[in-house]
Amino acid sequence: MVRPYAVKGRKRKKREENYDREDEEQSAEDETESAPHEEKETEDAHELSGIPIQPYEPKSQTGAVFILEKASLEVAKVGKTYQLLNSDDHANFLKRNNRNPADYRPDIAHQAILAILDSPLNKAGKLRALYVKTEKGVLFEVKPHVRIPRTYKRFSGIMLQLLQKLSITAVGKREKLLRVMKNPVTQYLPIDSRKIGFSFSSVKLVDIQDYVAAVNDDVNFVFVVGAMAHGKIDNEYVDDFISISGYPLSAAGCISRICGGLERKWKIL
Ligand SMILES: C[S@@+](CC[C@H](N)C(=O)[O-])C[C@H]1O[C@@H](n2cnc3c(N)ncnc32)[C@H](O)[C@@H]1O
Repeated sequence: MVRPYAVKGRKRKKREENYDREDEEQSAEDETESAPHEEKETEDAHELSGIPIQPYEPKSQTGAVFILEKASLEVAKVGKTYQLLNSDDHANFLKRNNRNPADYRPDIAHQAILAILDSPLNKAGKLRALYVKTEKGVLFEVKPHVRIPRTYKRFSGIMLQLLQKLSITAVGKREKLLRVMKNPVTQYLPIDSRKIGFSFSSVKLVDIQDYVAAVNDDVNFVFVVGAMAHGKIDNEYVDDFISISGYPLSAAGCISRICGGLERKWKIL
């Protein structure tokens, strides 16, 4: 079940709606904080309580962009309701529709997004942007200062809302925290950036710490990581395609290594 949407201006309520202690502390701040900037769009922006905004240092000049490719985030009508398809809850439905349940793994994107947003790299203001492209080609942006729900159930509720309504806005504010965008993602990337694709199958095996350390300080990084269970990312728009371990990693594990390399380079403790 998806949680009902918040009505604009309604007070955030109830302890059980927050998903961790930090959220409770932050929600008090949210109620008094004014929106950093107002967007003049009038489309059906969608408000969601429980997505507070975390303390965030302003962006410095160069930083990192992450793109999660081929994320398994697909909505379908199952019985009478629309749901985010996953291999645990929808195996029979998927088999009946000649789909392979093993391909339906929204948890991979969930863990990957959390790994990026939770990183000290992000907390230090060095994450410039996070884009997610679904297996079906839907591109959306996740603002670096958003707190994404930690439990899968609530994450799937938010993804369902996003993919149906095309944006999610913080309660009492007009900033879109998540929003569907027009393809291709390349139009949003910094011009002076190095685009790096990741795959276990790449023949170029590198130590990610040495790799990022060797890049000039005035260059932005764009990291393209797969958020799917099988297959590999397309390398159409990447400048380099690397492997960072002799072992296949989870998307979240791969991201942790990338963030660790940058944190070392930029001396973020
Ligand atoms: C769950 S894996 C996808 C599995 C897929 N068989 C593969 O290795 O590409 C998620 C993503 O993590 C990244 N990844 C996993 N292992 C890696 C490695 N050893 N080096 C670089 N990237 C890796 C890739 O971007 C991959 O698409």
